Amino acid sequence: MNFDSHTLHPKTLLNIKTYSDPVAVESYCKEKVLYPIEYDIVKNFFPPPPAHILDIGCGAGRTTGHLMSMGYKAVGIDLSEDLLVRARKQLPEAKFFKMDACQLSFDKASFEAAFFSFNGIDCIYPEASRFQAFRETYRVLKSKGVFCFSSHNVWGRFGRNFNPKAWKSLLPFILKQIKNKNFFEGYWVYPESNGSQLLYSKLPWINISFLESLGYKVQAVLGGKKRFDPEYKFWIPDKQEIKLDKSKGVKTSLLNIALTCHHIHYVALKL
Ligand SMILES: C[S@@+](CC[C@H](N)C(=O)[O-])C[C@H]1O[C@@H](n2cnc3c(N)ncnc32)[C@H](O)[C@@H]1O
Repeated sequence: MNFDSHTLHPKTLLNIKTYSDPVAVESYCKEKVLYPIEYDIVKNFFPPPPAHILDIGCGAGRTTGHLMSMGYKAVGIDLSEDLLVRARKQLPEAKFFKMDACQLSFDKASFEAAFFSFNGIDCIYPEASRFQAFRETYRVLKSKGVFCFSSHNVWGRFGRNFNPKAWKSLLPFILKQIKNKNFFEGYWVYPESNGSQLLYSKLPWINISFLESLGYKVQAVLGGKKRFDPEYKFWIPDKQEIKLDKSKGVKTSLLNIALTCHHIHYVALKL
């Protein structure tokens, strides 16, 4: 598989570097299951196994392994060699490639679904390259293929359930932006335990308009109330096409999600 790190922006490369930190690698190796919100999306929106799934930004293979155990034919790609080494070790039967989401080496219409989990798409700088990842994913999906990804939402960072604990961490977060020249482009500096990252963090309407401009139909927008909380809010624009177990969430408005959820999941269908 072709891979040319020179095509990547240095700020994207810096973000990727934080994932190669030994502490980060160990923490990504520990997790082996889909988070409840991801599991519900796969169950409710993905085609049934054994569909081909492209697991973009697969890290140490958390999602790849689980998708395979569900009977899917999953292929994982990532840019962090350190995480890929561990993914291959943990899942020797799986296919993993070092590849950039903005430059996929797969033929068009190769996959029935694509998954870019845990806000990985927000590492891509600048916004035009991030948009290129949407475009590339669209290209490699089959007609009626499903794309699911999650992304940061900046209003949710401030409004998270209007929880005072969340507000306590806001001042240092805001101060971190003082020297951040990319703040005006919607890229925020996120202090992580394994180093700071520059992450895209805009509002859900922007992701939705990107998806729609490419020819995707947004099927659902789901917001975790807090990290990994199995109960989540969801917003469904097209009630005709989907069947969801209503006991798993509370239907809400997109504005409500935007105001209260820091991490948002999007499910889109290639028309
Ligand atoms: C937050 S981690 C999530 C890892 C894994 N999906 C998980 O949930 O355990 C984001 C991952 O996206 C990968 N990533 C970021 N930008 C990428 C790109 N342009 N192409 C491929 N992978 C990318 C990173 O290297 C990192 O492993």
